[in-house]
Amino acid sequence: MASKPASRRPSERRPSGIGGSLPSSRRASIDPSRLVRMDRVAHVGGSDDFNVVFIGAGNIMFGSDEGPWNHSFRFEHKLGPRLKVVALIDPAIERAQAVLQKKCDSFVVSAYQNTRIYKSLDDYAAAVANSNERPHAIAIGSPPMFRGSTKVGRDVELQILKHFPGVPLFIEKPVATGTEEEIQDAYTVAKAIKESNAICSVGYMLRYLKAVQMMKQIIEENNLRVMSTVARYACAYEAIAKPDWWDKSKSCGPIVEQGTHFCDLSRYFGGEVDISSVTAHSLEWDEEAGHLSKIPIDESKIAPENRIPRVTAATWKYESGAVGSLTHVAALQGTNYSCELEVFADGYSLKLVNPYVQPILYVRRPGDDYEETHRFPDDDPFFSEVSNWIDVIEDIEEDPEAAKILSNFDDAVKTYEFTWAIRRASEKSIKKKE
Ligand SMILES: NC(=O)c1ccc[n+]([C@@H]2O[C@H](COP(=O)([O-])OP(=O)(O)OC[C@H]3O[C@@H](n4cnc5c(N)ncnc54)[C@H](O)[C@@H]3O)[C@@H](O)[C@H]2O)c1
Repeated sequence: MASKPASRRPSERRPSGIGGSLPSSRRASIDPSRLVRMDRVAHVGGSDDFNVVFIGAGNIMFGSDEGPWNHSFRFEHKLGPRLKVVALIDPAIERAQAVLQKKCDSFVVSAYQNTRIYKSLDDYAAAVANSNERPHAIAIGSPPMFRGSTKVGRDVELQILKHFPGVPLFIEKPVATGTEEEIQDAYTVAKAIKESNAICSVGYMLRYLKAVQMMKQIIEENNLRVMSTVARYACAYEAIAKPDWWDKSKSCGPIVEQGTHFCDLSRYFGGEVDISSVTAHSLEWDEEAGHLSKIPIDESKIAPENRIPRVTAATWKYESGAVGSLTHVAALQGTNYSCELEVFADGYSLKLVNPYVQPILYVRRPGDDYEETHRFPDDDPFFSEVSNWIDVIEDIEEDPEAAKILSNFDDAVKTYEFTWAIRRASEKSIKKKE
């Protein structure tokens, strides 16, 4: 049975410390038993409208065949009839119209029947400038090449801070896909967000997996020091039909765009990375072993220097002295990815398997050679990340310990910098070979 809606106090700006830098009395992780799937919870309490602006009308916001992501669907379940999407911003007006039409033809029509479409944030800001309209939250799911920067046209976060100071933000990963020289700009954006006190969550949803929170719990409860993280990320390349993904000049390559999820999880467990220690090798598209037979796009249209590596293998030191490694492979066909992350500490191995499809956690503890197996059927980290973000915005009083944002912008920029370091190291290794 669904639980009762939680009592809440009205949305209001909260003092600093929200959105990552939580008060020190709070646990940084979430009790895994609190991560409940969508159909087991009632929508958040209250009856007043919760006005949201969506930026981007693409796959992450409205779903696709490529994966389980679909933020609008989770917003609908979390907010119920309170959800009002006041604006949808996307330069592809027809795409925006099409997704809205679908929503208006369905039972969630009340959230979308008055949604206005704008080509840009500037247009939206101009349209509401002389009104009292101020959204309760803004969710950004546009491509990273248009955000995370201080440069005009790619500075949507700074524009939001200017027009709607203090409005909570949800921002997709990666935080940017600019050049390596522009990483500092992303830190400037992070500083501006932090100084504004806006509640901000970044879409590293794997942190919200029950299995991941259980790993955190075991580490915290046993006071473990992580010695090593070993990550393997094998994507099903046949299912990736977006030309930009295959083009380094657009999406920055598979580590910055996709492996970033496992780089982020590695940091989540291993701590800060010593960026100068990162080494990497790659198997490139033009090497004998790099031929792929089922690429779903026409790769010949991409400049040779922008085609992506098929394999990237990296190792690094954490500042604690621990050692990390990641192998990213674009080799599988079909649709399901094959991913594993193993975390080692004295006497322990915590092995997360298949986080995207059906997460399993294998735990080996001191005094036993056998591994416990934990399964997490129907876990939905996409819902948990949206749910926690909205609970923090709504400041649920019933249980102040429940809601947590597990990835803030500053932290996500560190993951971005780390992924760039891996890309750079693998590219250097190609040059050495020539
Ligand atoms: N966490 C995950 O598992 C996950 C899954 C999918 C996508 N993503 C992330 O979501 C982001 C978007 O990916 P997607 O798959 O939805 O892409 P997409 O191409 O399907 O959609 C992007 C949409 O943004 C629009 N757009 C382009 N420029 C814009 C601008 N300046 N302002 C507003 N809208 C603009 C495009 O017209 C398009 O409709 C990426 O950062 C991607 O990495 C994350």
